[in-house]
Amino acid sequence: MLCLGIESTAHTFGVGVADDKGSILANEKDTYKPEKGWGIVPMEARRHHEEVSGAVLEKALESAGKELKEMDVIAFSQGPGLPPCLYAGLNFSKELSEKTGMPLMGVNHCVAHIEVGRLTTKLEDPVTLYVSGANTQTIAFVSGKYRIFGETQDIGIGNALDKFGREAKLEFPYGPKIEVFAKKGKWIDLPYTVKGMDLSFSGIISEAARKLEQKNTMEDICFSLQETTFAMLTEVVERALAHTGKSEALLTGGVAANKRLQEMLDIMCNERGGKFAVVPNEYSGDNGAMIAWTGVLAHKSGQKPLNLKDAQVLPRWRTDQTEISWL
Ligand code: ATP
Ligand code: FE2
Repeated sequence: MLCLGIESTAHTFGVGVADDKGSILANEKDTYKPEKGWGIVPMEARRHHEEVSGAVLEKALESAGKELKEMDVIAFSQGPGLPPCLYAGLNFSKELSEKTGMPLMGVNHCVAHIEVGRLTTKLEDPVTLYVSGANTQTIAFVSGKYRIFGETQDIGIGNALDKFGREAKLEFPYGPKIEVFAKKGKWIDLPYTVKGMDLSFSGIISEAARKLEQKNTMEDICFSLQETTFAMLTEVVERALAHTGKSEALLTGGVAANKRLQEMLDIMCNERGGKFAVVPNEYSGDNGAMIAWTGVLAHKSGQKPLNLKDAQVLPRWRTDQTEISWL
């Protein structure tokens, strides 16, 4: 069985192909880049996705060495995400489904990050830290659902780092630039904000911007920003491990690329005698392959396809509201 997966929740338009043995045959993407100094403009991102969708699909089919008519199922990222971006994915997928008669599955974007993580790292039952631009969640599978143990109360860690990067007039992409500066920095105090299992980042970002104006070096601010926010993330993951009794931690999302965050989680897991793994770069940011693989899981386990007439996007679809029929 072959599943075509469509991702379009934010910056990335992605198309992937996966089979029911867990092989990923294609993973192509094209990413919208906001104008200099700006964050995402949802309507522009939608236009980008609509413009590139045909070409990304062609490329994916070519890499997979398959034709569209060989696909059995189509899955798309139904939410959560920005409504204009989600609509681009829904309309594109619906059109393909109508044209070919393939059943259409709606996939939860966050669940897809976890499933492609389990597939590529071979972790079985991890506590997942999902850290991207918009999302920051600690998730674990308990009593039939992926439960959110903690999350950000304001902005995602990626957007927080980007916000600081913009204010500090660094170059886009900001996360990797901050990581480079941080290598040569030393510690200065920034607010550490863990509230139970939840986190908050906007106060730290304002304080970091203020401290930069007070003539601290970029290196010191970037170092301390990473040390503080990553320690907060590590603390809640450790507490989720202790609470659930699980022994594996999985790191995914665009911010998973950060080596210092990887190192801190790795040390924490080692000290507990647990396992730690990072989703490979190609599959940790938003991508179509994760949607294709989760589509395979949902379809194989008997989930009903969407009715094309009333298929909708779900911009606020929560991880813990998603039916997990394959576990
Ligand atoms: P989502 O819809 O899941 O929120 P997204 O559109 O934000 O996704 P991702 O590719 O998952 O996209 O993540 C992008 C984020 O990752 C950006 O905020 C970027 O700054 C951050 N990032 C990328 N590389 C690094 C790095 N090395 N260190 C820290 N942050 C990074
Ligand atoms: Fe994502």
